Amino acid sequence: MKQQFSTRFGAIAAAVGSAVGLGNIWRFPYEAGVNGGAAFMFIYVLFICVLGIPVIVAEFVIGRSSRSDVYGAFRRKGASPMWSVTGYISLLSAVLILSFYSVVAGWTAHYIVQSIHAFAGPDDLHSAFTSFTGSWQAVAWTLLILAANWFVLRRGVQKGIEKAANLLMPLLFVLLIVFCIRSLTLPGASQGLRFLFHPDMSKVTPSVIVSAMGQAFFSLSIGLGCLITYSSYFSPRERLLRSAITIGALDTLVALLAGVIIFPAVFSYGQSPAAGPTLVFETLPAIFADMPGGFIWSALFFLLLLTASLSSTISMGEIPISYLIGQWGMSRSRATAITIATCMCLGSLCSLSFGPLAHIKVCSLTLFNLFDFLSSNILLPLGGIFISLYAGHILDRTTLAAQLSTRPVTLTVLRLTLRYICPLLISLVFINGLT
Ligand code: PHE
Repeated sequence: MKQQFSTRFGAIAAAVGSAVGLGNIWRFPYEAGVNGGAAFMFIYVLFICVLGIPVIVAEFVIGRSSRSDVYGAFRRKGASPMWSVTGYISLLSAVLILSFYSVVAGWTAHYIVQSIHAFAGPDDLHSAFTSFTGSWQAVAWTLLILAANWFVLRRGVQKGIEKAANLLMPLLFVLLIVFCIRSLTLPGASQGLRFLFHPDMSKVTPSVIVSAMGQAFFSLSIGLGCLITYSSYFSPRERLLRSAITIGALDTLVALLAGVIIFPAVFSYGQSPAAGPTLVFETLPAIFADMPGGFIWSALFFLLLLTASLSSTISMGEIPISYLIGQWGMSRSRATAITIATCMCLGSLCSLSFGPLAHIKVCSLTLFNLFDFLSSNILLPLGGIFISLYAGHILDRTTLAAQLSTRPVTLTVLRLTLRYICPLLISLVFINGLT
């Protein structure tokens, strides 16, 4: 008997938990900071609407109509066996992303402890960050994060994934609101808000557009069958279109709230918004160090980041696990052990690529950057193209109509979007990612 989420809240919390993660709180602010703030933000929101929500719907329909894992979902009667390639792409991206993502999640866990122990002085933050990320201690944190995933995933859909999501998601939203209030009451907060919401359209270049599209993709967890896997556990009563819109809206809301938290603080303390990937790990600790009670804020902030990343890593792990259970007939505990052990090996290599293995390069990329590049810039867009084409061309209108129970016009627009607009738009990101 196929497992199912027990409540609608649990199902949505799990899917939102997958979408909301480091992508919203770590990656969105730095991408927005580097790409000109408000202009980037508006284009990002546009992509969520025209590209993101249709692909979420496609994944939902594929998952719930097949009630299968990412491999089985593409083996519909009459579909060419070539489509199962999509399943393999999904599995590979899930393992690669889980491996390098756990490294960053491990950093956030270390920073919680560090906040309480007291941080390095503002001038030493950079060297503290680089020496930590290259150390064996960072490997230990990566392994600990993966062990936490093992602990949740081996318990299954209702007792593991759903229970964790029910706990993590409310905590995340409470922390977000506390931080918004804190940030908005800082002196000079309005300058940060202007940066985020007042667009300067002269900053829009092709590369800004492409980055915004890539960010929308990563942030919604689309293109690797995460939502196919989760929706195969949805109840038949779940309203797919409404759920897709809820997920898109909440994910965008969290990214915007992260911007509202970070930019006022950055401007209020005279820092640069364009620090890049180290914005959260170097710039923010410098700000916290200056605040009264800063260590508490700092510990809470990294707790927020850890909370968000755990519900995402859980969703990545479930992709290979449900495949091993469904296609290889393994028990859940064995499938979980194999998945987590594989990611522990790859994750350790990724972590070490900041230190002892920094000299190992493939196409001039370290292992961490290679995994990130391969998955985000190549495999996710490829998966996204196949998923929209499959939902638009292979699934017939009757299946879509039965799954979505919506008006015929909406169905037609959605089908056209999946057939033509999504594959074309995603191809654009793909080609740019390659160059
Ligand atoms: N969407 C997650 C985030 O924003 C990352 C993710 C990507 C999760 C792919 C699952 C699958 O952090």
